[in-house]
Amino acid sequence: MLEPHSNIHFGAESFAKFRDATMQNEIAILCDSHTVEHCLPVLLKDFSHLNNAPVLVIPEGEANKNLDQVSKVYEELLRLNLVRNSVLLNLGGGVITDLGGFAASTFKRGIQYINIPTTLMGMVDAAIGGKTAVNVNLFRNIAGVFAQPLSVFIFPKFLETLSKVEIQSGWAEMMKHALLTSGQAWEAFQQYDTLQSPPDALIEANARFKESVVNSDFHDQNRRQILNLGHTTAHALESWNLQQNLEIPHGFAVAAGIFIEAELAMRIGTGLSSGECREIQQYISTQFPKVIIEENSVDKIISLMRNDKKNKQQITFSLLESIGMPLIGIEPDEAYIRAAILHYLHA
Ligand SMILES: NC(=O)c1ccc[n+]([C@@H]2O[C@H](COP(=O)([O-])OP(=O)(O)OC[C@H]3O[C@@H](n4cnc5c(N)ncnc54)[C@H](O)[C@@H]3O)[C@@H](O)[C@H]2O)c1
Repeated sequence: MLEPHSNIHFGAESFAKFRDATMQNEIAILCDSHTVEHCLPVLLKDFSHLNNAPVLVIPEGEANKNLDQVSKVYEELLRLNLVRNSVLLNLGGGVITDLGGFAASTFKRGIQYINIPTTLMGMVDAAIGGKTAVNVNLFRNIAGVFAQPLSVFIFPKFLETLSKVEIQSGWAEMMKHALLTSGQAWEAFQQYDTLQSPPDALIEANARFKESVVNSDFHDQNRRQILNLGHTTAHALESWNLQQNLEIPHGFAVAAGIFIEAELAMRIGTGLSSGECREIQQYISTQFPKVIIEENSVDKIISLMRNDKKNKQQITFSLLESIGMPLIGIEPDEAYIRAAILHYLHA
């Protein structure tokens, strides 16, 4: 069960709460071009009181998580004359909850928003924790604010229309949670089939894990940074792909990032044993598609890492000391980073 003070509500038992939360205030719904087709009809079927709520739609995809789309959302909210006690309902994956959360929290100095994640990535990670952001040029999540949603409603039935690729992508963040938790959690995690939707209880447990880490350090000063495992590398790989008009699902970049950062941890001697490192890498190689990296792009990827907003003096990583034992604020020499990326590329 979720914590008593949790703002996360799960499954059909939370329908009454959802009605309460959305009956009193003026609501506008934000979708992308896929969720308006696949998810909005499902939502309206159960909650007909939202039939007349205005619907804002942005084009799907990471390339649209930008300030141009935020601007369009502001214009629509102005046209609708939304006021400070109105609520923006974000119905979508991480792109919609990140962008919608940012637009809501900055419109008229902040209106409330509710997240209804419709991807596995959103349910176990992106919709939770109040980090809102959009990309600026090539740089990921550069403009953003910390602003908790009023509530997050997780309805796993939305996963029925999600592609296998996007399901698999969501499993990557769950893998990260298992690696951060314990050897036992990691053992149990490996028994699941990453091409299938997880059992509801596992989705809920992962949402709870994310929430508990966030609650211990909302402004990301220390403990929350453990969630960056794999992400210094993942964000650089995604930026590199965006630069070439290629998009890879966030979770595939995270899986590649965890592989490379396991290698890095072992090489710089955080304590991660070669046995643990190889076990993680073996799992990732068999469960997730490989992100293509050309040897001549490694320097460019490292230079993108230098612009990561998590950096202190140098490129900064959250790594493992062992499975279940995360470390934060590690600044390895760049030669080790290069060697770890090259190891992935040749694996
Ligand atoms: N704020 C955070 O803490 C946090 C954490 C993790 C990830 N993120 C962000 O989340 C984003 C990735 O999220 P994502 O993987 O959900 O991507 P996404 O929002 O782009 O969704 C993936 C695709 O699935 C489609 N889709 C969504 N729900 C669907 C459904 N039920 N049926 C059919 N299609 C559906 C979308 O239209 C899109 O094409 C990245 O921008 C990442 O930076 C944020």
